[in-house]
Amino acid sequence: MSRKLFIAGNWKMNLSRARSSDLAAALVEEIGKEAAVDTAVCPPSCYLMTVQQALGVSRIDLGAQNMWYEDQGAYTGEISADMLVDVGCKYVICGHSERRHVIGESDEVINRKVLKALSEGLNPILCVGELLEQRDGGQTMEVIRQQVTRDLEGVGASYAGGTTLADRLTIAYEPVWAIGTGRTATPDQAQEVHAAVRTLIGELYDETLAAELRIQYGGSVKPDNAAALLARPDIDGALVGGASLKAPDFAAIVRAGVELSD
Ligand code: 13P
Repeated sequence: MSRKLFIAGNWKMNLSRARSSDLAAALVEEIGKEAAVDTAVCPPSCYLMTVQQALGVSRIDLGAQNMWYEDQGAYTGEISADMLVDVGCKYVICGHSERRHVIGESDEVINRKVLKALSEGLNPILCVGELLEQRDGGQTMEVIRQQVTRDLEGVGASYAGGTTLADRLTIAYEPVWAIGTGRTATPDQAQEVHAAVRTLIGELYDETLAAELRIQYGGSVKPDNAAALLARPDIDGALVGGASLKAPDFAAIVRAGVELSD
């Protein structure tokens, strides 16, 4: 089973309107025609339309970093799935560790977001990952199992147009201790968790869906470690934070994926 690699940039709360537009334009120049891997950028929500314009007809897709699960109404500060579709988003990140641990999002909220994104035609990138003390305490697999199971509760396997959950959902394994720290999980550590997530998806759904679902790794992915991570059998892409803010670095990570796809 060969899964197409998927490299996405999570710009987090960075840049300005002008710098977002410049970064998107530079990426279009460098990797805008790349078809061997799927690519996306997730700018701050106030720059989604600016970035969408700069991406134009390139092959780089647009994603949002967050959304709320209700249709509309009195949810000050929130953005609906419908609104994200309206401004051209294909993807939405759900349950990023910064939202779990800084903002306090629960698995129940994340589950509702995943369900809503899927029902509105957005493709969720569901982030899961353990804290350092959980890894040191030998709880990694238990934490990941609990997050994946709870966040996918009630999530169906089949979708409109004959698509499956594997066409719509990406899971991103992002060990919290590796995010923004420069401390990457080793390819072996990441592979071990990715394989366990795939086994779990097989238990929750079936083997075919498990074999088709893409699992990205996130946490200090850089041009110099991307190839080693992406070469592992169950690592199907990367969710890149810091290095996605520099066009040459993000492009180099995408190219590492392209080389492995040849
Ligand atoms: P860094 O690549 O900056 O470690 O961030 C990873 C991340 O959180 C992507 O969502």
